[in-house]
Amino acid sequence: MGTKASAHAGPSAFFTADHRECDALWAELEGICGDGKADAVESAWMRFDRAMRRHFAMEEEVLFPALEEATGMPRGAGPIAVMRMEHDQMKGMLGQMADARGDGRELLDLGDTLLMLIQQHNTKEEGILYPMADDALAAGWSELATQLDRY
Ligand SMILES: [Fe+2]
Ligand SMILES: [Fe+2]
Repeated sequence: MGTKASAHAGPSAFFTADHRECDALWAELEGICGDGKADAVESAWMRFDRAMRRHFAMEEEVLFPALEEATGMPRGAGPIAVMRMEHDQMKGMLGQMADARGDGRELLDLGDTLLMLIQQHNTKEEGILYPMADDALAAGWSELATQLDRY
C-alpha cells in the first residue's frame, strides 16, 4: 500500500508517521460506521486492518530483530518481548472485530478497546523504543529501510 512516510527518514520518523496513518484509518472507519453503508464500512475496515497488520509485521520482522541484535537485548524477555505480546493482543482484537464487522455498533465498541491498547502501546514505542532504534540502528538503517520498502 502506498504510505506517505518513507522508511529512509529513520525509525522514529517512519514508524511514528505510520502510527498516525493507522490512527487516521481508524478515524475514517469510525466516522462511517453509523451510516448504514455496508460497502463503505467493509472497504474502510479492510484498509485499517491491512495497515495495522503491515505495521506489526514491519516491527516484528525487521525493526525488533535488528534492535535485539544491535543492543544485545535477549529475545523473549525485556521491552521487545512486551511489545510482541501486545501485538498478539491487538491482533486478537482485530480478529474479533473482523468477525463483528457487519455490526457497526459492536465494531465501534471493540474499536474503543483496541484504540486504548494502541495508544498505550504506541506511547511506549514512541517514547522509548524508537529513540533507542534511532541511536542503535543509525549505521545500518539504509539497508533496513530498503527491507521496509517491500512491505
Ligand atoms: Fe508495535
Ligand atoms: Fe508501532
